[in-house]
Amino acid sequence: MNRDPRIIVALDFPAEAPAIALAEQLDPQRCRLKVGKELFTRLGPAFVARLQGLGFEIFLDLKFHDIPNTVAAACAAAADLGVWMVNLHASGGRAMMEAARARLAGYERPPRLIGVTVLTSLDGDDLAAIGCPGDPAERVLRLAGLVAEAGLDGIVCSPREAAMVRATRGPGLLLVTPGVRPRSAATGDQKRVMTPSEALAAGADYLVIGRPITAAADPLVALAAIEAETAAPGV
Ligand code: C5P
Repeated sequence: MNRDPRIIVALDFPAEAPAIALAEQLDPQRCRLKVGKELFTRLGPAFVARLQGLGFEIFLDLKFHDIPNTVAAACAAAADLGVWMVNLHASGGRAMMEAARARLAGYERPPRLIGVTVLTSLDGDDLAAIGCPGDPAERVLRLAGLVAEAGLDGIVCSPREAAMVRATRGPGLLLVTPGVRPRSAATGDQKRVMTPSEALAAGADYLVIGRPITAAADPLVALAAIEAETAAPGV
């Protein structure tokens, strides 16, 4: 029995019914579930509680970015929901991250606190346009350093950046990577993808996987295929 599954299924659905229908097919011992802005905005904490009632640990992917007091309070609200992981934008700055970390320190079982580095939808031109010129990979490394100094548990990054961050920062940071596609799956709108086994080999700790599982004809078969790939020798 796998008590720390590496697969986090991104539960991206427009409504509660299909999300619950999928969750009821999945096994909490084999994956965790990610609830993002869409379903949380529609359904709120009751939806998180419903998934927890099915036995799942939840990654609440709301990417907080605000003044330190507000983000710390939002992280406390997430901790009160009993979620397993919560995230914020590292670009919100060190004081914001430290405030969140300090606020969670009072919890017996706080959620893992994760900093989003650079959204994979942004390239160098996009960053320059918002006044942050330079190589996106260097910005990822810089923010990863800030996340580590602020005492957070890890970062969200592209699997293509995982090896670079691991080599620079060592084993201390959890690396959470979306943009993962099994060889057989369609890439959809994700452009810079890696397979699950490649992402793990690059140093990822947790793989966020949405449509290859949620849109599969048989989500359980899709999950099993990913598990088989990642359990192969050498991974
Ligand atoms: O369906 P797919 O596997 O592409 O889903 C990936 C999930 O990870 C989505 O919920 C998406 O919002 C999220 N994500 C991402 N890229 C980031 C951060 C989050 O794809 N940089």
